[in-house]
Amino acid sequence: MREWIVAGNWKMHNTVAESTALAKAIKEGAVDIKDGSVILAPPFTSLHGVSEILKGSDLLLAAQNMHYEDKGAFTGEVSAPMLKDIGCSYVIIGHSERRKYFQEQNADVNLKIKKALSSELTPIMCVGETDEEREKGITQEIVGRQVDHGLKGVSRIENIVIAYEPVWAIGTGKVATPAQAQDVHAFIRKILNESYGKAANGIRILYGGSVTKDNIGDLIAMGDIDGALVGGASLKADGFLGIIREISGKK
Ligand code: 13P
Repeated sequence: MREWIVAGNWKMHNTVAESTALAKAIKEGAVDIKDGSVILAPPFTSLHGVSEILKGSDLLLAAQNMHYEDKGAFTGEVSAPMLKDIGCSYVIIGHSERRKYFQEQNADVNLKIKKALSSELTPIMCVGETDEEREKGITQEIVGRQVDHGLKGVSRIENIVIAYEPVWAIGTGKVATPAQAQDVHAFIRKILNESYGKAANGIRILYGGSVTKDNIGDLIAMGDIDGALVGGASLKADGFLGIIREISGKK
């Protein structure tokens, strides 16, 4: 049995005051939900404030990115020890927006995954194809490469979460059908199984891309979809809590 995860990726939204108010509302609304994990990923500037709000609750804190070195002359970057220090237990790695706007390559993702693991942060590694790649019929090739290269040299995958986020579904309102998502999730589990054997059965694979409380029910009913990585709908407590309730009742 895999425990579900719902993670809210707030992206570049919310001041400290807005973040702490949102975290408080989610914490209060999620108080009776215990059968999975709820993770909040505010922007760096709000990590400390949200961390304080989440203290004493079951909600977990994630960063949206990190550097693969512990420290050094890397202006504008933040490291794994800094994230641990502020209370993060998860970190999103290789989001498609990082790949698209900041030229992150699979090799960078791989270094970050290794650093997160050695720092005892659980990475949520994002993969997904573009519209054009899906139309060309190369979804599996692209996603397979992102998984293989992202995890190159990683000997144990127990502490990794994968998020399948088709780029064409992110922020577009064009959610993948449950069958489309399930196909890719099953494919990811198959290739993990080839490299890591039975451990692949325990890996949580989240779906992301235009998830709302109205469409998550059908997605989460699929066998290999273990939760959601939510963007826009995580910015309002009601919408996010609605997603959590849909998932916790079904997995
Ligand atoms: P949306 O839910 O806004 O489509 O964003 C998904 C996402 O990128 C989460 O990481």
